[in-house]
Amino acid sequence: DPGLRGANGKACALEFNILARQGRARASVLRLPHYDCRTPMFMPVGTNGSVKGLTPQQLRELDCHLVLGNTYHLENRPGADIVQEFGGLHEFSKWDRAMLTDSGGFQMVSLLHLADITEEGVSFQSPTNGQSMMLTPEHSMRIQNKLGADIMMALDDVVSSVNPSRERFEEATYRTTRWFDRCLSAHERPGDQNLFPIVQGGLDRELRAISLRQLMERDDRIPGYAIGGLAGGEDKESFWNVVDWCTAALPEDKPRYVMGIGYPVDIVVCSALGADMYDCVYPTRTARFGTALVPSGTIRLPQAVMEGDDRPIDETCGCPVCKKYTRSMLHRLVGTDSHGAILVSIHNVYYMQRLMREIREAIVQQKFPEYVRRFMAQQYPEGA
Ligand code: GUN
Ligand code: ZN
Repeated sequence: DPGLRGANGKACALEFNILARQGRARASVLRLPHYDCRTPMFMPVGTNGSVKGLTPQQLRELDCHLVLGNTYHLENRPGADIVQEFGGLHEFSKWDRAMLTDSGGFQMVSLLHLADITEEGVSFQSPTNGQSMMLTPEHSMRIQNKLGADIMMALDDVVSSVNPSRERFEEATYRTTRWFDRCLSAHERPGDQNLFPIVQGGLDRELRAISLRQLMERDDRIPGYAIGGLAGGEDKESFWNVVDWCTAALPEDKPRYVMGIGYPVDIVVCSALGADMYDCVYPTRTARFGTALVPSGTIRLPQAVMEGDDRPIDETCGCPVCKKYTRSMLHRLVGTDSHGAILVSIHNVYYMQRLMREIREAIVQQKFPEYVRRFMAQQYPEGA
């Protein structure tokens, strides 16, 4: 859509229109080339371009606006050239709403623990097929430009939990900016794909400030910002502090994406701090192990107490699974075949999208503080 205008009025591949604010929280329409998304928004992860167990039609019915894909996985199989031959990731996955691709480095470093990082880029040798992949900022952009997602992530220097020294965090902070500059130069489709940089700096206030300052010096070329380096098992206080520092410093008129966040309580807190976008494998992964999300937290369907329980997963839920299945039936279905995993995934994705609708409506109706109090009272009835 050549008609889109960014915050600075320049032609750009997104429009970010804030509909309402309350405190630091915002509700918006994020207009992307393939879809007008509503924020705050949760984006399910479809590593290979599709969410495990769910069809694009089901994702639409569950009110998903944007699905995430991963550069590393898609380049490995089937390969960006093949996706491009099929007409790009939207066409290949038959998902016509918005998509976002992560740059690949995080997956190689954090999930696979076998990456070698130099100034040139991140290299990795697959333990399963022995194939190696070198992901430079230029190569990540070349792949992501072929995939054609609405939002692409810049390649960032992710600190492995194996060597988390202050020196390493400092190096990664500065290198992430240098790599962002290389991504900017290599990006070939600024008119129809958005490139987001990622704020790094660990849990260190000074490093986060440096990262923010350096990236914001490039603000006229930035349609939105991501906050990375979280979701690595740090305590909630440190994690919320980092989000607080970042959202307080970032420009008001651009979307803010906190990467790897998917616990409902974290999404509610980060939205209160002014964040707009989230992704995580948690709701779908935990579903495959039989854990369902409910307003009070979670329930474990494989547990023996579910055996004679004739209630739905959640009596207040409007999802197709809660209309038809009892906990007792799901107890039998999870663990026996993939059908159970799919049913719980449907419920969990619906639960997340309902949570996001409620957050957005509360902000629009200027009732967000009451909503947060009610949410917390349900999750922590004893007080926390
Ligand atoms: N996913 C979760 N955290 C991160 C991060 O810090 N960087 C990238 N690229 N992806 C992430
Ligand atoms: Zn349900």
